[in-house]
Order: sequence, then structure tokens, then C-alpha cells
Amino acid sequence: MQDKIEQLEIRTSDALKGGGEKRIASQHNKGKLTARERIHFLLDEGSFEEIGMFVTHRSSNFGLDKEKYPGDGVVTGYGKIDGRLVYVFSQDFTVMGGSLAEAHSEKICRIMDLALQNGAPLIGLNDSGGARIQEGVVSLGAYADIFYRNVQASGVVPQISAIMGPCAGGAVYSPALTDFIMMVENSSYMFVTGPNVVKTVTHEEVSSEELGGAGAHSSKSGVTHFTAENDIACIRLIRNLVSYIPQNCEEEARSISYTTGNEKRPALDNIIPANPTQPYDMQDVIKEVIDVDSWLEVHKDYAENIIVGFARLAGRSIGIVANQPAFLAGVLDIKSSNKAARFVRFCDAFNIPLLVFEDVPGFLPGTDQEWNGIITNGAKLLYAFSEATVPRVTVITRKAYGGAYDVMNSKHIGADMNYAWPTAEIAVMGAKGAAEIIFKKEISESADKDAKWKEKEAEYARLFANPYSAAERGYVDEVIQPYQTREKLIRAFEMLKNKVDKIPRKKHSNMPL
Ligand code: HXC
Repeated sequence: MQDKIEQLEIRTSDALKGGGEKRIASQHNKGKLTARERIHFLLDEGSFEEIGMFVTHRSSNFGLDKEKYPGDGVVTGYGKIDGRLVYVFSQDFTVMGGSLAEAHSEKICRIMDLALQNGAPLIGLNDSGGARIQEGVVSLGAYADIFYRNVQASGVVPQISAIMGPCAGGAVYSPALTDFIMMVENSSYMFVTGPNVVKTVTHEEVSSEELGGAGAHSSKSGVTHFTAENDIACIRLIRNLVSYIPQNCEEEARSISYTTGNEKRPALDNIIPANPTQPYDMQDVIKEVIDVDSWLEVHKDYAENIIVGFARLAGRSIGIVANQPAFLAGVLDIKSSNKAARFVRFCDAFNIPLLVFEDVPGFLPGTDQEWNGIITNGAKLLYAFSEATVPRVTVITRKAYGGAYDVMNSKHIGADMNYAWPTAEIAVMGAKGAAEIIFKKEISESADKDAKWKEKEAEYARLFANPYSAAERGYVDEVIQPYQTREKLIRAFEMLKNKVDKIPRKKHSNMPL
């Protein structure tokens, strides 16, 4: 008996060594944690249960039979974050560069199946040289087995991918199929083809960092939703993100207990500038309205003309979409429409109510936008809001012009409540442009064209540069003083708590992609 117990101890201790001390030291020298250290910091203390510690590959190609490591380069299992069940895989770069092949993939697939069957989030900590070259086509099939499961799980359980090392070739597509990606600055990168291939094909010289580092993907491509300065910060971010989202599509996010007190926020009365063309920072509005220290911005450095993120309102998790007048005047363009549409769909899939702050001058004009498909891409946001069945509330702070008024969660496309501040202007376009078009003849025939234009601009502004025409028609439910906003929203979301809404029966929708 004793020798069998010892045998298990030896095997376990071997498995815990990963690729060996030298390679672990090299991992640490790069400022990276090992696969097991990452899991240790991610999960509640002592909650990790490992699955498949002794799994090895079965290949003998290119001497692989002499290179077997228990676990095959990935640590998989389940545990708890703040007492809630999650499934996790963590690739071990010290074992053949965390490369993925048959057995490695089978282990990941097993916990993906468990996550789906048991309705809990799946967290992938990626650190891998991609397909294990020695196992050839088997590695490609092994990736596809994961991709397929990512898609089956999409919209059923939340999926989060942390990129904590290299992620190249097909390996980028599993993270791309998940709900959120976060990258560690200076030690992770993602690309379909690396700098060497790029140089051969396009003659461009570019470093890994420039091509696919955290900076490139957070600001240029929008592939990553978050960046973190190191492994520990990345792990903390995952734990924080999980706190805003539910276990699966049948449940709601966990609330924090909250006792309503004085919910008036007088500072909101001083945010909108007297001059309607002067920008202000919508972040100031958001931070005054939400619970203190509850803001988790998503896609912070990408398409900054729209803001999206999670917050809490009276302890309940909500998703916020807000135009940002401080960047490109808050205009809607291709990137911002995509960014917001993706966020709206996540919130709707996982029962997170949506709050919209609106100050939008319209869609961005120009050949660049038209030729790159602002029609199709703008339609994505319209589609996402129209399809969403979660409680939806809009606050119009200033401009709500043109098609963008419809798109930004208007009552017409299913918003439940729509508030406007007295500073709101709900119109087809700004008064100056409108006067120029509809009074063109009168202005051109006038002796003093400028004076006539100003007169007509004022006439149009009197009629439409306010919230009251819309309120008279019920497009706006109530015109409120800014300081009342938080209180009104707490009450509105409380009123909408048990909302039941359905979309017509269909196989699936056909979103304009
Ligand atoms: C097998 C691999 C490997 C791989 C790395 N290793 N990548 N083994 N298959 N894909 C091994 C190395 O041999 C080495 O083994 C150890 O991992 C660490 O690698 P190093 O090169 O020493 O580390 P580093 O200098 O940090 O460079 C990391 C790297 C580089 C940039 C990831 O290793 C690399 O370029 N690897 C190949 C990447 C690649 O082309 N992958 C295939 C992509 S195509 P030892 O024994 O020395 O420790 C793809 C298709 C999927 O993924 C398609 C799905 C649809």
C-alpha cells in the first residue's frame, strides 16, 4: 500500500514541475507567472480542483515519445471566484511552449463541456506557441474542436480569454470567439501571421509588439477589450469582470446589497456647458450617476467617441452605452457602432439591463465611412438595440440628432423609459444646418443673408432645439432635472426588474455582418 501511495506522490510532484525548473525560471525572468501560479491567484484560496493532471500525448513523431509531460502543457479544472463556480484552463508555456495538440485540446474540451452542461463561466489563460508542430494535422483538428465548443457555448455561459503570452496563427480564433479578451502589456501578443511572414508577403518590417501587442489591439484593432500591466493585474481584472456578470444566460448577475439614501446628485446640474457646441466629458455624468467606484470600462482606448462598460446602480449590475462629446463630438462611426453593438448583445444575452446616455450629432459623413460600410455597420447597433429584451433606459443629455436619435435606444426601437434633460435637443439636425436647407431660397434672396440665416436658425431652434416637441408626443417619458437622474434611474430599473419580453420565434436572426 505504502509504495502505491508513494507512486502517486511522485507522479503528482512530477506533474507540478511542468517543463522543469530551468524553464520555470525563464518564464519568471520574462515577468510572467507559471500556469499554476496564475490559477492560484485567480481562484478563491484552496478552491481549485484539477482534472486530467496525468494526461499525456500519444504521439511518437519526431521523438515526441521521449518528451512526455504529465498534463500535456495545460492545467485544467474548476474552482470558485468569490464563491461562484468557474471552469478554467491555463496553458503551461514551460511544456513545449504550451503548444496545443490532441491531448491538450481534449483536456480543454472536457472543461468546456462541463462549463456548458453546468452553466458556469469559462476562463482561458492563454500562453502558447500555437499548434504543436510535431503533431501536424492532428493539432489543427484539435483547435477546431475548441472553436466548435466556443460557438456552442456562446450566449449560454460567459467566456473570458486572457492572453498572457504568445498567441499566433489559428490560436487567436478561440479567444476571438469568446466574449471578452484581455491582454498583458509587453508580454503578450496576438496575430494570424507573425512579423516574419508579414515581411515575406508584404515587405513590411514590424515588431511583434507593434503588430499584435496589447497596445495595437486595444487602440487600433479593438480585438482586446482590456489591457493589464502584468499577470497579477490581469487576473484581478478577470475576477472583477466576473463580479458583474451572471453564471449563465438563465440567471441574473449577483447584486450587492444597497440601502437607498439621498440619491440626488446636484453636481450633474453643472456639467452641460452653456454653449451647445462646447464639448464636455460624459465620464463625469456616468460617474455621478452610478454607485461609487463601480465603473468597469470596456474597450477604453478603442473608438473613444462611444463609451461602454459595466457599473452598479443601487447595487445592481448594469451595462452602460454612452456617446462621448469630448471625442469627435460623440459622432457615430463604423468603429463605435461595432463596439457598442457587441456590448449591447453581450448584456442582452446575459440579462444585464442597459442604460444609455445620449449626446450624438449623427453619423460621421464622408467617403471613408461610406466606402467602408457605415450603412451596414451602423445598422449593427440599430439591430442590437432593437433585438435586446433586457430592461432598457435612455437619458438624453444634449443632442439627439437624425438617425442617431433612432439608433441610440429610442422608444421606437423598444427602450422602456426615455428621459431627457432640459438641455436636450431632439431634432433631425442642428438648427444652423436645418435653416440653411429649408430656408435656402429665403436666405439667398435676402439683402442681409447672415441676419436672415440667424433669424431662421433661431426659429428652427425654438421649435426643435429642446426636449418638449418629443415629450409632447411621448417619445420622451419625462423631462427631468439633471440632479434627479440617479434617483429616477434607480426607480425605473426597479420598476422594470421583472420585465418579460420575447422576440418572434426564429432559427436565429440575420444581423447585418
Ligand atoms: C511545438 C513549440 C511550439 C510549437 C514553441 N515550442 N512553439 N513546440 N510546437 N508550435 C517550443 C520550443 O521548441 C521550445 O522548446 C519551447 O516551446 C519554447 O519556445 P522558444 O522558441 O524557446 O520560446 P520563445 O523564444 O519565447 O518564442 C516563443 C514563440 C516561438 C514566439 C511562440 O516558439 C515560436 O515562434 N513558435 C512557433 C509558433 C508557430 O509558428 N506556431 C504555429 C502557428 S500555426 P524547448 O524544448 O526548447 O523548451 C497554428 C495553426 C493553428 O497555430 C490553426 C488552427 C486553425
